Formats: sequence, structure tokens, C-alpha cells
Amino acid sequence: MAIQQKLSLMIPGPTPVPEKVLEALSRHPIGHRSKEFQDLIESTTKNLQWLHQTQNDVLTITGSGTAAMEAGIISTLNKGDKVICGENGKFGERWVKVAKEFGLEVIKIDSEWGTPLNPEEFKKVLEEDKEKEIKAVILTHSETSTGVINDLETISSYIRKHSRALSIVDCVTSLGACNVPVDEWELDIVASGSQKGYMIPPGLSFVAVSKKAWDAAKQSNLPKFYLNLNSYRKSLENNSNPYTPAVNLVFALEESLKMMREEGLETIFLRHNRHKLAISNAVKALNLKLYADEKYLSPSITAVDTEEIDAEELRKKIKNKYDILLAGGQDHLKSKIFRVGHLGYINDRDIITVISAISSTLLEMGKITSQQAGEALIIASKYLNAN
Ligand SMILES: Cc1ncc(COP(=O)(O)O)c(C=O)c1O
Repeated sequence: MAIQQKLSLMIPGPTPVPEKVLEALSRHPIGHRSKEFQDLIESTTKNLQWLHQTQNDVLTITGSGTAAMEAGIISTLNKGDKVICGENGKFGERWVKVAKEFGLEVIKIDSEWGTPLNPEEFKKVLEEDKEKEIKAVILTHSETSTGVINDLETISSYIRKHSRALSIVDCVTSLGACNVPVDEWELDIVASGSQKGYMIPPGLSFVAVSKKAWDAAKQSNLPKFYLNLNSYRKSLENNSNPYTPAVNLVFALEESLKMMREEGLETIFLRHNRHKLAISNAVKALNLKLYADEKYLSPSITAVDTEEIDAEELRKKIKNKYDILLAGGQDHLKSKIFRVGHLGYINDRDIITVISAISSTLLEMGKITSQQAGEALIIASKYLNAN
């Protein structure tokens, strides 16, 4: 039995929280209309713009990533608008549901779970829309349910050519893990959540909004109140928030963004890439298969197909013995895959440890040889030691 209370979170959110950030969380709250809090909002907003590589407004909402996506959709679109939704996993499915719930007409572009969306299909539908009836393209960059990264750079270039449609993008598990240059790719709405690459607990979400999206927001007639981005924009002019924000999470955000700036964007992206390569190559040495197309592996999560092994049983053993929490498969993938989160505050030791835990559990179950267990570690070390 593992000593409890030493939980290692290797799921794609909530992610581990650094000590400095925990300390910030435990401070006594301050008034959210005070000068001190306004200064904090000014500083976190600047750092959020840095993280998003944008001059656009970046708004902070009290709510999870879904709130940020919903806010982007309902603040910029109109009843009955035609939108394209990309769907190749659980989160893509969610945005189709949200769009339909608000009465939007959805053109679905999908691909099998585990495979990326095909940018050429977006190009075709957008080029055929001569009347410019398509008002937005809604898609997920890193599809957490399958560990696939979609080619947002290419898809966004087709959206730009269309010129009328907005891009509304779920970057919940890509922002802070790989390059999402919002201005360069001219992304209109970019949504993310605090419990992911930001390294803070759940409760805040962020929406970057372009000028084009603000122009669309002027006409938008979908029902909204708490998630009306116009209210957040107006308040941000005074470095404030329309409602009582999660003050302590903003303290935490200030600390985590400082840590990110110290590490530097490029170094953060390289770290996530090394971890992705170490895990994905190590699991192959353990008779396991990658669930996602190897050319499109998410920087933040690796989905592993366990074939004849019950993934839930494996996950449970690893949790009980090592106190490492891995994520399970969702929907039809339950018991078929497990997912290793390597997003946010994760270091090389976490990666070596999780690979060792998976290897020794498989060894104990009689599924691999000790030679394979050793090879997995050698392979992982090779990628961890690469620059
Ligand atoms: C890609 C992606 N989109 C959206 C969400 C939803 O975020 P939340 O649970 O914070 O609402 C998640 C959460 O895991 C996610 O991974």
C-alpha cells in the first residue's frame, strides 16, 4: 500500500501546483475593487498577453475552460448562424453540443478518434462558401480525450482566407505546452483554463479576443449574461472584473505566470516536447501501442492503447501501489486506453517515475520481461537527455 497524501497527478488537469503558487493561494483575500487588486489584474493581463503571444485583450473569467469556450461562442455569434465544428474526440463533441444548444447551424467536419482533423476538408467547405454564410470555425487544438494535436496553423490559414468566419479555438491543453502564436495565426477567440498549463488549481479561465471578434460581438444576439465578454472588456479598461472574481486564484496566477516568464516560452515548449517523446517512445518498448496517430501527438497527454490488458485494472494498480494518478479512457475507450498527462508543472523525474511505475506493474502482471522494462527506461532517458 502506498503512503497516501503524496499523490502524483499525471492526468491532463488538474495538474500539479508549485509550492510558491500554493503559498499565494493561502494568502488572506483582498478587496476586488481595491487599487492593489487592480494592479494585480494589470500585471496578470500583461503576462497573459505574453503567454498568448498577442496584443489582443485577454480576459479572465471565474469558471472552467468550458465557460471560456461558451463565452466566446455566445458573445460573438447570432441565432441561426452557420458554423463549422471540428470533431475528433470528446471535446470536439462538446462544442457541437454547445453550438446546437444555442441554435447555431452546425456543419460538422470530423475524423475518427485518434486521428487528426484534415485541414483540406476545412479548406474545401470554406472555399465553397461564396456567400460567406459561415460565421465561425470552432475546433479543439489539443484533443485531450485522444492525445491528438490538430493542425491549427494550417486550418487557421484557411479561415483567414475566407475572411468572414471567426476562429473560435479550444486551446485548453495546448496553451502553455506548445506554440500558439495568437497574433501570427490571427486567432479570434482562444479559450484556456487554469488547471492545465497554467499550473494553478481549477477555477479560472481565459479568453483572448481579436478586434474582428469584438466587431462581431457588437451584433451578437445570443442570450447571455454572466458570460457576456463585453462586460469583461468594459471592466478590464479599469483593470477590474464585472463580478467578484476568485481573488486567491488571481494571486496564484500572478505567481505561476512569473514562473513561466522565468522559464521562457521556448524552454517550456521544449520541455513538453521532450516529455512527450520520452513517454510515447518508452510505452512502445512495453508492448503497448500509442492510441493517437504518431505524427500528431499532443504535447500534454499521451493516450496508450493497452490492447488485451484492462486499462482500468492497470490504472488502479498504479494508483494503489505508487499513488500516481493516470487518466482513463472516456466513453467507448473506457478500459481500452489510459492517458498519461504531462502538462504544466512536470519535470524529468515525474516522467522517469511514471514510466518506471507502468513498467514494474506490467512486469508484476507478467505482461513484459525485465529486459523490456529496462529498455523503456533507457529509451526515455535518451529523449530526456536530448536538447
Ligand atoms: C481540450 C479540452 N477542452 C475543454 C476542456 C474543458 O475544460 P473544463 O473542464 O475546465 O471546463 C478540457 C478539460 O479537460 C479539455 O481538455
